[in-house]
Amino acid sequence: MFDSTEFRGAGHVIIELLADYLDKNLQGQGNVLDWQPPQDAIKKWQQPLPTEATLTPKAFISALRDDILTATLHIHHPRNLGHQVAPPLPVAALCDLVAALTNQAMAVYETGPSATMLERQVLQWLGELIGWETSAGVLTSGGAQANLTALLAARQCMAGWDIWQQGVSRGAPLRILASEHAHYSVSRAAGIMGLGTDAVVKVATDDQGRMQTEALQATYRQCLAQDTNPLAVVATAGCTPTGSVDPLFEIGTFCHKNKLWFHVDGAHGASALLSSAHRQALQGIELADTVVWDGHKLLYMPATVSAVLFREPQNSYAAFAQEASYLFQGNSEESESYNISYRTLECTKRMMGLKLWAAFSLYGVEKLGGLVDQVFATASLLAQKLTDAPDFELLMQPQTNIVCFRHRSADQVSIRQALMESGTFHLTQVKLDNQLWLRTTIMNPLTAESDLDALLEAIRKIG
Ligand SMILES: Cc1ncc(COP(=O)(O)O)c(C=O)c1O
Repeated sequence: MFDSTEFRGAGHVIIELLADYLDKNLQGQGNVLDWQPPQDAIKKWQQPLPTEATLTPKAFISALRDDILTATLHIHHPRNLGHQVAPPLPVAALCDLVAALTNQAMAVYETGPSATMLERQVLQWLGELIGWETSAGVLTSGGAQANLTALLAARQCMAGWDIWQQGVSRGAPLRILASEHAHYSVSRAAGIMGLGTDAVVKVATDDQGRMQTEALQATYRQCLAQDTNPLAVVATAGCTPTGSVDPLFEIGTFCHKNKLWFHVDGAHGASALLSSAHRQALQGIELADTVVWDGHKLLYMPATVSAVLFREPQNSYAAFAQEASYLFQGNSEESESYNISYRTLECTKRMMGLKLWAAFSLYGVEKLGGLVDQVFATASLLAQKLTDAPDFELLMQPQTNIVCFRHRSADQVSIRQALMESGTFHLTQVKLDNQLWLRTTIMNPLTAESDLDALLEAIRKIG
């Protein structure tokens, strides 16, 4: 089972298979998705538990090719326009193979020396892109966990007592103010933290999907009038429904003035910092106490890798605390700082820094920023086409790479379902003010104008 010769042989075959898969998808050959209802798909996956081998190595490769790769959502296909999931850079996928085989547990430095250094290096680079000279942070398995980590730190630093040890009930009820479009992971974090999801007070947005600063001020005053303790504001840079960017500078200034923790959920949009054309839209992000930034979105990484970054390095220890003599030796603060699990929910975690380090080192900020420029430009082009087409309605001009729209003549749910079942395009949908919109996220820099024209034509036909 540990035979390296077999690994080498299978590795070559699998890489060939994946390279063909990649080529086919990048060129837009075949469908985006060969749709099968899950109730049908499950029938193939009801085999008895194998007590002995049921596949030869050759049959395993065939299953991979014929059953598994065929039933994937083809993420590199230029007509895959649904979720905010990156078509990953191939070299980053190879890095994940290295991470899997070397299996660096990373809880403490000695269980992943190079993995620890890679993580610190890429966190430093991301902090620098935000505009921070010194910062600290941790890579997590996804933005949801990163938001939880940031909000745990906010709670510990701002509550006014040692909430980690003494629990939530010692003082006035805590409140987190967030845009009505904040990702669900924010209210989930409040639930996990024992504050209750009602502790997240929704702040109204304007017609461009951005948090209204007057509404923020009013909501804050209301929290104080109700004798609650507002501790943090969550702004979003690239909100999930529409990709809108909250006015970070105004919100950050308000937070500093009122001594509130300023958290920026940039899971989707922080990568605009890589682009000289778009980074201006994130002005004020440098005022944040914490920033969340997903690698597996616009940094073109395979899932999962997200960063939670702290402007004050010391605050990166605030989210968690524990005694664990089998891991932590109680050495000097400086040498303990290399033991990553002080800062993270996870104990064992993947070597996530390698793929980011490789992408930055091989391509530099310029080329990575070029990917962002390209998908933002394609989103603008789609918006222009929708504006020019009388049978379509555009929700708003895109601020990032998410475009929401409706076809005037038909039911949007049926359009989406028909497109997905035909395999020609993959889109999502979103409900805003009780109105359903089709939602596209342009993640693929190879999505061309002809793909956009074909999308509008396909929707017209269904309509
Ligand atoms: C704004 C925002 N925050 C957080 C998340 C959660 O990130 P993840 O899916 O990496 O856990 C998402 C996911 O789409 C998001 O759009």
